[in-house]
Amino acid sequence: MQSNVTQQHQFNFTNEHFNTIKKILYAHAGIVLADHKKEMAYNRLVKRIRELDLRSFDQYLTYIKNDNNEFGLFTNAMTTNLTAFFRESHHFDFIGKTIIPQLALSGKRRLRIWSAGCSLGEEPYSLAMQLLSSNIDISNWDVRILATDIDSDVLSQARTGIYSQGKVETLPKGYLNKYFLKGSGSQTGSVRARSELREIITFKHLNLMQEWPLKGPFDFIFCRNVMIYFDTKTQAKLLEKMAALLKTDGHLFVGHSEALARHDNHFTSLGKSIYQKNSQSD
Ligand SMILES: C[S@@+](CC[C@H](N)C(=O)[O-])C[C@H]1O[C@@H](n2cnc3c(N)ncnc32)[C@H](O)[C@@H]1O
Repeated sequence: MQSNVTQQHQFNFTNEHFNTIKKILYAHAGIVLADHKKEMAYNRLVKRIRELDLRSFDQYLTYIKNDNNEFGLFTNAMTTNLTAFFRESHHFDFIGKTIIPQLALSGKRRLRIWSAGCSLGEEPYSLAMQLLSSNIDISNWDVRILATDIDSDVLSQARTGIYSQGKVETLPKGYLNKYFLKGSGSQTGSVRARSELREIITFKHLNLMQEWPLKGPFDFIFCRNVMIYFDTKTQAKLLEKMAALLKTDGHLFVGHSEALARHDNHFTSLGKSIYQKNSQSD
C-alpha cells in the first residue's frame, strides 16, 4: 500500500509522481519499484532536482521526457549498487575447486566470463583474483572477464580499480598485498587493483532490457542480486538469453535469494544458487 504520510519534504511528492517514476524505471530498466520505496525514490531524485535547479517533481518529470541524457542520470540515481568483494564466497570456491580443474582436464586454455550487473566492480575483481590465485597455473591461459552494468557512474568508478581501505578489509588473507597497490599522498587511505587484474577485465555499459551486443559463448555468467529487481516475466526472458550465450554445461551464478523457477528448462540447480546449463538447451 502506498502511503501519503511522508516526512516533511521540500518538494511535493504525490503518489502520482511516484507512479510515473515507477513506470519510467520499469519501461527503461525493467526494475520493479515496490510501493514501500516511495521515500527512497524521493531521497534519491531530490538530489537531481536540486542539482538541476528545478522547483518541483512536475518540472523534473517534464525535464526527463525532453532530455535523453537525464534518462541515464535518473537510472543511475535509482539503481541499488550494494556489493562487496567475494560476496557469497562459496561461488568463488566452486570456481577454484570445480570449474578450473574441469577446464584444465578438458585441455581448454580459454576462459570467457560475464559479470552482468557488476556494480562498482568488486565482483569482477574478485573473479580475477580467484582465477589468478587458482591452484592450477592459468597464467598462460587466454582469460577475459566482461563486466557490464546499466549505471554509468558505478562503471566509471569500477574502471579505476580504486577502493577505500574499508572496502578491502574483508579480502582473504594475503590478497590485499598481492593484488592491490597502496595509495600515497592525496590517495592515502585508498588502494588500486594491480594491472594484472585490470588487464583481464573489460567494463562496458549494458542495459539488460535492451539488445545484448555480446559474442559469447561464456564459460560462466555471474548475474547476482540483479534479477531480484525484475518481475518473473523479465527474469524468464533474461534466463533464456543467458542460456543461449553459455557454453554447453556452462554455469550461471545468481544471488542467494534468487532461486530460478522450478519449471525453468534451461538450467539444472547444483545447489547454493549455482545452475548448470542443460545440454538440450542448446
Ligand atoms: C545490487 S547490485 C549487485 C552487484 C553484484 N552483482 C553483487 O551481487 O554484488 C545490482 C546491479 O544491477 C544493476 N542493474 C539494475 N538493472 C539493470 C539493468 N536493467 N541492466 C543492467 N544492470 C542493471 C544496478 O545498476 C546495480 O549495479
